[in-house]
Amino acid sequence: MTAMIDQATHLRTLVRQRSRASVIAVTSGKGGVGKSNIAVNLAIKLASAGKEVVLLDADLGLANADVLCNVDLPYNLSHVIARKKDLSEVLFKAPGGFRLIGGASGLARMADLSDFDRQRLVVALAELEEQADLILIDTGAGISPNVLSFTRAADQVLVVTTPEPTAITDAYAAIKVISRDGGDRRVSLLVNQAKSTGEARIVYERIARVAKQFLGISVLDAGHVPADDQVPAAVRKRLPFVMGSPNCPASQCIVQLAMRLERGVAPGPETSGFFNRMSRWFRK
Ligand SMILES: Nc1ncnc2c1ncn2[C@@H]1O[C@H](COP(=O)(O)OP(=O)(O)O)[C@@H](O)[C@H]1O
Ligand SMILES: [Mg+2]
Repeated sequence: MTAMIDQATHLRTLVRQRSRASVIAVTSGKGGVGKSNIAVNLAIKLASAGKEVVLLDADLGLANADVLCNVDLPYNLSHVIARKKDLSEVLFKAPGGFRLIGGASGLARMADLSDFDRQRLVVALAELEEQADLILIDTGAGISPNVLSFTRAADQVLVVTTPEPTAITDAYAAIKVISRDGGDRRVSLLVNQAKSTGEARIVYERIARVAKQFLGISVLDAGHVPADDQVPAAVRKRLPFVMGSPNCPASQCIVQLAMRLERGVAPGPETSGFFNRMSRWFRK
């Protein structure tokens, strides 16, 4: 604990030198709803708008942002966990201009980090805040301690769901756990693979209403991304759809999401961000 506080003091100096990055965790209840595709394509769009964007693939065990971008990374998060590298040494330029920290797919022990390792990652992440405008974290699915440590480290949590009843139920479960975890993060909902704007609206309203009624929280509307054949086609080509099909319906919605986030991610006051998040750790 003392070591963590010493690091915190050191970081306070660092953070003061530059306005800090906003941290957005992209999460979901159910897996396979489109988090990684949304995170990668969003990172590219925000980078093309001139932002310094870092994407951390923190889906421990099922990481694949590097596959979607067709990059072969010499080092990734597993080297950081193994203490062979610092987080800043495993940052690599990805196509589209953002910087990617690859995940650690296939390492069984990554699926269940120790509390100490999780805290180490969050502290390391804070050091990156002075090198970026925006840090996106693909947290992986579910409500495990690993996922929660990353949502806790974020200023905003973007919960992704599809219109499937199972995905909706799991999205609500994730929102419930995140809201009970405390803190002051903004939680927003993105409906992916929607057949229409109307369908997305119904899903959003249903979740927002129940969250208000039973959890007492406001879930913001992050919009939707339509079901679009260009998305699986891009996955097969290993060329993110905003690059390969910049005008397809999914790309257009990612552009809108990027603009919405850009407006909402202006750096906060000096005291927000890292220290709020660290205090969440110590309150735990
Ligand atoms: N908007 C979409 N339209 C059509 N298919 C999609 C869409 N979003 C995701 N998919 C499909 O769902 C699969 C899973 O997406 P992925 O981003 O890997 O999900 P997650 O990261 O949540 O596990 C993708 O391989 C893609 O084929
Ligand atoms: Mg994924």
